[in-house]
Amino acid sequence: MASPPVTTADIHSARLGDRDFRRLAELIEGYCGIRTPPIKRILVEGRLRRRLRALGFKGYDEYCDYLFHRNGLAEEITNLIDVITTNKTEFFREAQHFDILTGTVVPELLQAGIGRRRPLRVWSAGCSTGAEPYTLAMVLSDVAMVEPGFDFRILGTDICTDVLRTARRAVYPEEVIGPVPMPMRRRYLLRSRETERQEVRMGPEIRRRVSFRHLNFMAPAYGIVEPQDVVFCRNVLIYFERPTRQMVLERICQQIVPGGYLFVGHSEHLGDLTLPLRQAAPTVYVRV
Ligand SMILES: C[S@@+](CC[C@H](N)C(=O)[O-])C[C@H]1O[C@@H](n2cnc3c(N)ncnc32)[C@H](O)[C@@H]1O
Repeated sequence: MASPPVTTADIHSARLGDRDFRRLAELIEGYCGIRTPPIKRILVEGRLRRRLRALGFKGYDEYCDYLFHRNGLAEEITNLIDVITTNKTEFFREAQHFDILTGTVVPELLQAGIGRRRPLRVWSAGCSTGAEPYTLAMVLSDVAMVEPGFDFRILGTDICTDVLRTARRAVYPEEVIGPVPMPMRRRYLLRSRETERQEVRMGPEIRRRVSFRHLNFMAPAYGIVEPQDVVFCRNVLIYFERPTRQMVLERICQQIVPGGYLFVGHSEHLGDLTLPLRQAAPTVYVRV
């Protein structure tokens, strides 16, 4: 007899047991570095509910059985990581960083010919849905208006395939672009022709500056061939333990040119790590 279909009530009453939680936490940390301590159990349970529904499983035990005993892992890992990652972001988040970039960092790099002899290269590492790399593209496009010949490229990378899809599409609900100053909106954003769709798209001038790639910071090699002049790696490292932060930042530092800059999130401190960096301002570092 066929088993009855899984209902929403079944999934809502399902609980993630201790052993399954531990196995999942170990898997997640090993795969992408994100630590999920016991306090995050309800969060993990909630996020995985979507996967239970999608796969037609009644409970987390069935899901774990599929992952760990029925060879489901290879097929499921991308979806699992997509629901586990926290992708909160916004345009002009921690706005002082963009002032430091255009007011201090870019003029200094321009003096060394970077941005003129060759394009300035900026990497948004852990770029989520694209708000950070597109903010960078807008502020640097403003610099290009007053610095003839100034050229730049931006690379956005993330482990989450969902957010990369949004970033590449470059379409955002109007409410999300609230922090973008009005003159920039006029210069760089396109409004949807269908007025009932309250959406904007990054204009072609901005989109052509930015490319996106899938990248897991836990990968042994990042495959980024060109050294980067500026790296924004903000609000990503907070999810990692100290040894993982050390390892990831060592690799990121290898990608930065000497004299290049690293920006981290305002709640992130590198004081407990040993890295080839000198602090230039709170949360802003120079590669030595
Ligand atoms: C909270 S968002 C921060 C986005 C943006 N940097 C900002 O500050 O607005 C963190 C991003 O890091 C990504 N991430 C987490 N672990 C990662 C890993 N191991 N490799 C690459 N990206 C990762 C997540 O998918 C998420 O989109």
